[in-house]
Formats: sequence, C-alpha cells, structure tokens
Amino acid sequence: MTAYHFPSEFVAELRDCADIVEVVGDYVALVKSGANHKGCCPFHREKTPSFMVHREKRIFHCFGCGVGGDVITFLMKVEQLSYPEAVERLARRCGMDLSPYERGGGAVDSGDRHVSRRQELSAVVARANQFYCRQLERELDGRVGEYLDRRGISHEVARKFGLGYAPPGWDTLRRAIKSARDLDNAVAAGLLVQKDSGRLYDRFRDRLLFPIRDAAGTVVGFGGRIIGDGEPKYLNSSDSPLFQKRRLLYDLAHAKHAIAREQLAIVVEGYMDALTLYAHGIDNVVATLGTALTGDHLRVLGRYGRQAAVFFDNDEAGLRAAFRSLPTFLEAGVMPEVISLPEGVKDPDQLVRERGIEALSSCLRQRISLLDRYVAVREAENRGASVGRRRELLREVVDVVARIPDQVLAGLALRGVAERFGVSEEMVTGLFRRARRRPRSAAGRQPEVPTTEAGNDWTSLTELDPEEYYVMLVLRHPGMPVVDEELRSLLGQKLPRRLLELYAEVDGDREALLPRLAAEDHDHGAELQALYTRLELFPAPESGAAIDRELADCRLLLERRHLRREVEEINRRIRSCADEDDLTGLLRRKMEMVQRHRR
Ligand code: CTP
Ligand code: MN
Repeated sequence: MTAYHFPSEFVAELRDCADIVEVVGDYVALVKSGANHKGCCPFHREKTPSFMVHREKRIFHCFGCGVGGDVITFLMKVEQLSYPEAVERLARRCGMDLSPYERGGGAVDSGDRHVSRRQELSAVVARANQFYCRQLERELDGRVGEYLDRRGISHEVARKFGLGYAPPGWDTLRRAIKSARDLDNAVAAGLLVQKDSGRLYDRFRDRLLFPIRDAAGTVVGFGGRIIGDGEPKYLNSSDSPLFQKRRLLYDLAHAKHAIAREQLAIVVEGYMDALTLYAHGIDNVVATLGTALTGDHLRVLGRYGRQAAVFFDNDEAGLRAAFRSLPTFLEAGVMPEVISLPEGVKDPDQLVRERGIEALSSCLRQRISLLDRYVAVREAENRGASVGRRRELLREVVDVVARIPDQVLAGLALRGVAERFGVSEEMVTGLFRRARRRPRSAAGRQPEVPTTEAGNDWTSLTELDPEEYYVMLVLRHPGMPVVDEELRSLLGQKLPRRLLELYAEVDGDREALLPRLAAEDHDHGAELQALYTRLELFPAPESGAAIDRELADCRLLLERRHLRREVEEINRRIRSCADEDDLTGLLRRKMEMVQRHRR
C-alpha cells in the first residue's frame, strides 16, 4: 500500500471540497430538518433520529451519544480508519490527485518539502498570466486596444483586472514555456492542449483573457473572449484540481470585502458585467463562469454576506437561470433577490454603458424577492391555462417553496401562493407536505427516517450549562473577545476552558478549529470535537449586540458562581479551623469577598 504524507493545506482543501452531507449520506439515511440534515446515529442504536449533519458548518453531532466532528472524523469512526487512511479515502472520492503526496515521490521543492499540486499548477498559471498581460500591453495600440475601447474598458480597468491577450498563433504560450515539467503542468492546468499525436498547442488563441482568481486572489485560470466574432464566444480553462467552474466566482477576491460590508452579493452572468459594474463603483459583484449557480457557490458567498441578488440577462435564458437558482438559494437558507433590467436592455453591462450609473442605481434599488417574482411569473402563466397545466404549475411552485428550510418563512410563502393562485391554503399545505416528504438526495435513496415537521425539535435533546453557553457565545462572537486570565479561572470545567484556549491559539479561526481539536490527545480530542460540534449546532442569538448582551450576563453569572464556590470553601475552612489567628484571617477574606460580590 502506498503511504502518503498530506500537508495540512491539502487537508483543508479537501474538507472544503467534500460535501459532508453526501459523505455521511452514504452511511445514514438523512432528511433535511431546518438547517440540518438528520438521521439515526450510526454509532449507537436508536430509533428516533438525533444524529445531525450541518452542511455549511461541515460538522456532524449526535445528540444521543454525544459524538461529533468533521467529515474526516466521521470516516475514521465509521470505517475504523486511521487519519491518513480517512484522508486518502476522502480525497479519492473527491477526485483529488494524490500522487504528489506519496512518500518518497512527488514534487519536492528546494527545501525538500512537498509542494502541493495546486501550488505547482498555480505557479504555471501565474506565469502564463504575466505572459498574457505583456501581450496585451503590446497590442494596446492595435486591434485589441480598439476592442477594449469599443467595449468601454479603460486601460486602467484592464490593468486593475489583469486582463491579458492570447495572440492568434497555435503555440505562442507553448514556446514561452521552457521546462518539460512546466509543459506538463500547463497541460494539467488546462492552458495547453495535447493532440492525439502528442503535439501541444495553446488553448487560448486570439482571445481577450479574464484571469480568474480564487477567493484568496490567486490566479487559477482564464475566461477568454474571442476578439470580434467567432465560436465559441467564450472559452474557459478546462476543469482541473486548480480550476473548478462550479466552485469559482469571477472577481470574488475583489468583491468579498464589499460583500461583507454591504451584506449583499450581486451575482451577474458575465465577466463583462462584473467588470463594468466594478468600473462604475459597484464592487459587491461576482459572476459565475458560464455555469448555473451551485450550492458550492452559495456556501462560498455565505462566508462573506447574508443576502444575495441575481442580476442576470434580460432574456428567456436569463430568467430561466434566475429561476433555476432559486431552489439552490432556498436550500442554502438564503432568500435571494432579483434585480431586473428595463425593457430593451440586454444585460447589466449594456445598462451602465448606455444609460449610465443613475439607471443602474435605480435598478439596484428596485430589487425584489426572487421567490415573489417567480411565483408572479408562474401565476401569470396559470391564468387561462388548462386545468392540467394549472395543477402542474401549482405543484412546481409548491415544490420550490418546500425547499425553504425555515418553517415560518415557508408557511408565509405558502399563504402567498394560495392567495395568488386563488386556491385554499389547505390545498397548498397538502401539496407542500407531500413535497417535503419526497426525498431530494442526489443519490435518490429513500430515507427511512420519520420526518417531523417541527424544524428545530432536536434542540430539546440538549441543554448547555452556563460555562458551555458562555463558550458557545464566544465562538459565535464576530471578532473574538479576549480570553483573559480571569475568565480562564471562571471556567472551572476543563473541557470548555481548553476549547477556548485552543480557539485563541488558532486566532479565532473557526475553520481551523476542528482540525486543531482533532490533533489533541486521542480521547481528549474526541471529547473536544464533540463539545465543539454540540455548541456549533446550538441556536445562538442572531445579532452581534444580542451576543454582547448575553456574554455580559453570562459572565456575571459565572463570576457569581465562582465567588460562591470560594466563599463555601472558606466557610468550610472556618468551621474546621482551630487557630485563632488563622480564623481572623479567614474571616477577613470572607468579608472582602462578600463586599466584592455586592459591588
Ligand atoms: N459564456 C460561456 N460560453 C459562451 C457564452 C457565454 O461560457 N459561449 C459565459 C461567460 O462566462 C460569459 C457569460 O456566459 O461571461 C455571459 O454570456 P453572454 O451574455 O453571452 O456574454 P456577455 O458578457 O454579454 O458577452 P459579450 O458582452 O462579450 O458579448
Ligand atoms: Mn450578457
């Protein structure tokens, strides 16, 4: 058997890639319940499900037997694997390339450390990007410059976005790459194409290139628009370990700060749309790469902002794409909005260019709920349709509403549907119940688990004591408050205290916390993971202000408790004290404490 050494960066990427709901779903029949998926715990016998999986938080926890952890912990436990075995199994499942991590083989850098495959590929993409940028600079006075002018892209914006140009030749890039290893990497990164004859040629020819970056700003691939007419209009890097269209969003590295600031992500369809909006000061904008919006996209966006709005092309295809994204949004727990273009304007790019920033601002202000828009459009179709078609439409709409995890929101939406379609609420509720019961797992397996309609009913399975509650609040606090000495002494219990210490150690990075916990001593690590996942799934107060308030209250409670314990201890010593001097000292201390308590 091959032995591997996996760098932590690779494992982090793997955790990111693997959908914990899918992985667990191979072993446990899961059904959606609120923001969680739930099923019967595979680690202890139970009839009523208390095993929860949370996709976005990427954790599982059983409220029956108390185990918890991430996707790797799960595989280790369920398959009785060692850590590297579980990582290997998961990486194969995700289709990740393991060869660079074979012990004694793979890529080795000067420091004799393993360089991840990603790093190697992104190095070659970065160099290609520089090459293409230089080509663009050279062509700015000619045909390409003209094209940019025609599209209203200033040279400043072109440089800011690092736009490039791939010359028309078949091997311009190939000839610029010297080493055999780099040629291999350029093929793997989808920049060069290998003919059956073995000959290599450039993938991008005579195209304006939009470098596509990951969230951290590393260039991972390109989208290339043909200069002038021709087919295909757009060509992207092919998918590779580095470049995955279903996960990447154009310009996210720029936009993420603005998205966090506005708590709104505007999603457009085209690179040009993103570019033009950005050039006009709207910077919370990302574009998909010619694919439908996926759950992966939304998971990424959800890290930065709560709300999202689609701003798609003003045609059949755009509307269809918007509606198709709706269930994906709803399942991710987001109520998306839609921004509509005025009649006669084809896309956001054209809007700004022809009607100016005022027209854009007015569009942005008039964003409405995508669900409402969808229901309205379907209802318009409904009018005058045959009975059969009307039933179909109603069912389709209710199916979409059934994707809303939040019970209250789903209920409100249902009432809206009943009103619009002019049917009774009982009728839509009936359809809704049936839709909810239908399994929607990708594998199409029929879950055997009885569903309960009350979303968060599992919360009754758990209660936090004040120390745990306090730690839970700290974990949810945006920007971690200091874990000071005094607090440490207040947290008498070893586990919650240790959890906070490790949390401070990873600088409040929740993503890094679970792997850090898993690295603790065997049993201790398992206990810490179980505590952490239990706290993560606990419904916390929503707003930062509410958390602050509760933190303060909770701290007061902990202080009181601590004091009471100390006073009790002194009382005990006073009762058993024989020496008069000692007794005086003890009484004085007790008085001080009680006074402090009163303050
Ligand atoms: N797209 C693609 N392949 C195509 C056409 C489009 O991948 N053959 C993707 C690209 O990501 C593009 C997006 O879909 O940015 C939007 O397509 P379209 O509306 O046709 O592009 P525009 O941005 O309007 O293109 P342009 O203005 O350059 O004509
Ligand atoms: Mn367009």
